[in-house]
Amino acid sequence: MEKVVLAFSGGLDTSVCVRLLEEEYNYEVITACVDVGQPEEEIKKSQNSAENLNPGNHYVIDAKEEFANEYITRGIKANAEYEGYPLSTALARPLIAMKIIEIAEKEGATAIAHGCTGKGNDQFRFEAIINSMSNLKVIAPIRELNLTRTEEMAYAKEHNLPLPSDKIYSIDINIWGRSIEGDVLEDPRNEPPEEIYEWTKSLEDANDSPQKVTIEFEEGVPIAIDGEMMPLVDLIWKANKIAGDNGIGRVDIIENRLVGFKSRENYEVPGAKLIIAAHKALEELVLTVDELRFAEYISTLYSDLIYRAMWQEPLRDDLDQAIDQMQRRVSGKVVMKLFKGSMQPLTRESPFSLHSVEQITFEDKDTDQKEVEGMIKYHNLQGSNYQKLNL
Ligand code: ARG
Repeated sequence: MEKVVLAFSGGLDTSVCVRLLEEEYNYEVITACVDVGQPEEEIKKSQNSAENLNPGNHYVIDAKEEFANEYITRGIKANAEYEGYPLSTALARPLIAMKIIEIAEKEGATAIAHGCTGKGNDQFRFEAIINSMSNLKVIAPIRELNLTRTEEMAYAKEHNLPLPSDKIYSIDINIWGRSIEGDVLEDPRNEPPEEIYEWTKSLEDANDSPQKVTIEFEEGVPIAIDGEMMPLVDLIWKANKIAGDNGIGRVDIIENRLVGFKSRENYEVPGAKLIIAAHKALEELVLTVDELRFAEYISTLYSDLIYRAMWQEPLRDDLDQAIDQMQRRVSGKVVMKLFKGSMQPLTRESPFSLHSVEQITFEDKDTDQKEVEGMIKYHNLQGSNYQKLNL
């Protein structure tokens, strides 16, 4: 029997896939759960259901640090957001795919399977990596059999699959954020129910007094929070907690998916929002005006590539190099003030600051103010000539 490695989360889609792969596709199934910061209970639960469904053939791979240090750092340096979504799911997919390929090779499997439907972005992200980095066959049972969620439920009941009982939403979690889809959320006329949120307080329940938080960056990457140095994974958890308690990080958008659809998407991304805001505040201090304009432009380009499953596009690498070059000076400290869903920088400092108090102060007598007069005269000379044409 040939072997297939299934990217397994323990949710409805992937649980159904285990049986389908055995019964409809005749494979020996190996399940693998890549830990990119899902809650521990979730990993445990997925492990339990894997053990029940498919005893003795389950892997758990801890990829949290790699995810933070090799993927999230790029997102931070690029201020990567797609339509307001900091790409938490999108950034994790290439890494998950690569880990699954490693297992497939180790196990001598001939195929990789995933539980994506035919409507989303994740199928593109997984398969872009699998196709370009291996010769493994891809199997996508839910898509291939055109199953609806209700049909999956029926199949699960029929086959006595140990299912996460009352879950109605499709939720994807990693350290960089939570995405919540499905059920009442599908119709933008419905308000998102409070129950979908776990990391963020509503504005009503958010802390009643403002909180200041200091984030220190080195070469574009956060290294300390409130004076405490810590590994990025821990720092992000801390940022998630602080920002979430202050009602920061709920995103509710009509997203433009890769496959033409518009889709209402809900995210909880408190830490990502806080860290990116602080990072931008620091960039304002240390980058030149032209670098800032360029950074803003390539941020959109970069985010689109990540969103659209183009991790392997050489432009992504090209942009990374330009970004890394600029980020060498993005070191320093930012104090942010958080209050009831709002955030603002209070102070910023850096050894690479291009701002000079001596130069900008109103009290300065050393700069001869009159020197600028010649510059004013020639500033937009062409525009001035144009106006004089009296067209
Ligand atoms: N729309 C987001 C994206 O494309 C989130 C996808 C969430 N995935 C999921 N399987 N629930 O990145």
